[in-house]
Amino acid sequence: MSEVTTPSPSPAAPKKMDDIVALCRRRGFIFQSSEIYGGINGFWDYGPLGASLKRNLKNAWWNDVVERELIGPDGNPVDIVGVDCTIIMNPKTWVASGHVGGFNDPMVDCKESKSRYRADHVVVLGSTAPGARLYAFIENDEEQRAAAVKGLTRYEKRDALDPAVHVVRPFMSISAEERARTMGPHAKEAGTLTEPRQFNLMFETHCGAIRDENSLAYLRPETAQGIFANFWNVCDSTRVRVPFGIAQIGKAFRNEVTPRNFTFRSREFEQMEIEFFIRPETANEWYRWWRDWRFSWWQQIGLAGENLILREHDRDELAHYAKEGAGTSDIEYRFPFTAPGFGELEGIAHRADFDLKAHATHCGKGDKMRYFDQEKNERYFPHVIEPSAGADRGTLALLCEAYTPDPSRASGVYMNFAPRMAPVKAGVFPLVNKDGLPEIAERLYRDLRRKHNVEFDEKQSIGKRYARMDEAGTPFCITIDHDGASSGTATIRHRNTQAQDRVALDQIPAWIDERVG
Ligand code: GAP
Repeated sequence: MSEVTTPSPSPAAPKKMDDIVALCRRRGFIFQSSEIYGGINGFWDYGPLGASLKRNLKNAWWNDVVERELIGPDGNPVDIVGVDCTIIMNPKTWVASGHVGGFNDPMVDCKESKSRYRADHVVVLGSTAPGARLYAFIENDEEQRAAAVKGLTRYEKRDALDPAVHVVRPFMSISAEERARTMGPHAKEAGTLTEPRQFNLMFETHCGAIRDENSLAYLRPETAQGIFANFWNVCDSTRVRVPFGIAQIGKAFRNEVTPRNFTFRSREFEQMEIEFFIRPETANEWYRWWRDWRFSWWQQIGLAGENLILREHDRDELAHYAKEGAGTSDIEYRFPFTAPGFGELEGIAHRADFDLKAHATHCGKGDKMRYFDQEKNERYFPHVIEPSAGADRGTLALLCEAYTPDPSRASGVYMNFAPRMAPVKAGVFPLVNKDGLPEIAERLYRDLRRKHNVEFDEKQSIGKRYARMDEAGTPFCITIDHDGASSGTATIRHRNTQAQDRVALDQIPAWIDERVG
């Protein structure tokens, strides 16, 4: 193998979300669902490249969690089995889990613009003095913030950054009297925002021909409950013993009040969840182990830089089931729309024995459902450590991380995916469409295709073919040129550095295997 050229990489330019969304649309990563009808808010489709990228992410998760050997904190292999449960479950499931009673978000409506907002995402800008005009906007929405600042400046006839008027408070914390003098984000009059009220996020449907309350059912808002409800089935039908885990990848649905930020907050999305069942006294040890392993997993698949953080929750942030637990943390990514802040990719929570006990109680069998520990001759409800990740948020983080503007290239950008995640692993090109080069390239393409997603491209100039592959994030481009045809070699161009190696044709399959493995 010999090196052919090594151009130097260009300096990094800032990433803009609009550019990433445009590339996703243009190159077929992500489309608006039912776009031909104007789309539908909160729903997204994956095109050919996006479907492969998301599939690679889910396969990596399933492979690393369920299929490969993992060694736990006790030095023993971690036992995890998979399930695939239904989206619609007996509605009693959601009463037991607390979702019917408490899976609510506060929302606020604007009577004038008919817009609806998540009340806990809205803040108000303006003086705390009696009678002062307040301007509401969605936190982190720079456009709305600018409009609020402009409105306040005009109304107060002074700089909106003057500390006397530049006070930002949560909308949820202001009084009814203050609400009456608040301008909504899309309103022309003050006082059009309603009092915040609770809104249940579960999508409802009916099973069977009669639509009444007896046929009411819900689309699952998390995959976790399918796992909990099957805990006893899995124990009875397999050889698992605590500590062990059950994993599931699948769709979840939440009627989000304000879906936004591309796929980040959607109404239909996919989760990758593990419920790991343990003895209560080992909760601290397992919690820390899962937290750290999950963080390193995201790093390994390409989120290795400073955009990824691990954030331990404060006590007042904890969910009802995690209050007394070993801890809860989030793995967060700095998306262009959250920067300089971060958005959640995965939560790791100690759910204690909340869910198993709740299902045991609601199905009427109570303590009879306790797990029997044969070794200790003891009955108890196992505690649970839950690493719960989003496949769509993970895919979005991979897209944002990979997006690398490079004005020196024909494409102006390349997608720096880790080879394991890249939708297309290699492009195979004949330099020209004559002299036997297409035949050699096609043979190599067929050979590689047996194992990997590779593309054959003979259209247009070699520069344009590189540009297409750069935008798709293909890590390697293999070109058959005249020198190669006579010497039985090809050049392999590395996407990021644009350096080229010359490799013998018969060694290329192993060369690719080693790098995308
Ligand atoms: N079983 C625990 C659970 O569902 P969660 O924090 O509500 O916890 C877990 O959700 C993960 O699911 C999140 O970290 C996120 O990646 C993903 N997720 C949640 N709501 C989402 C939404 N509306 N759109 C996209 N992904 C979402």
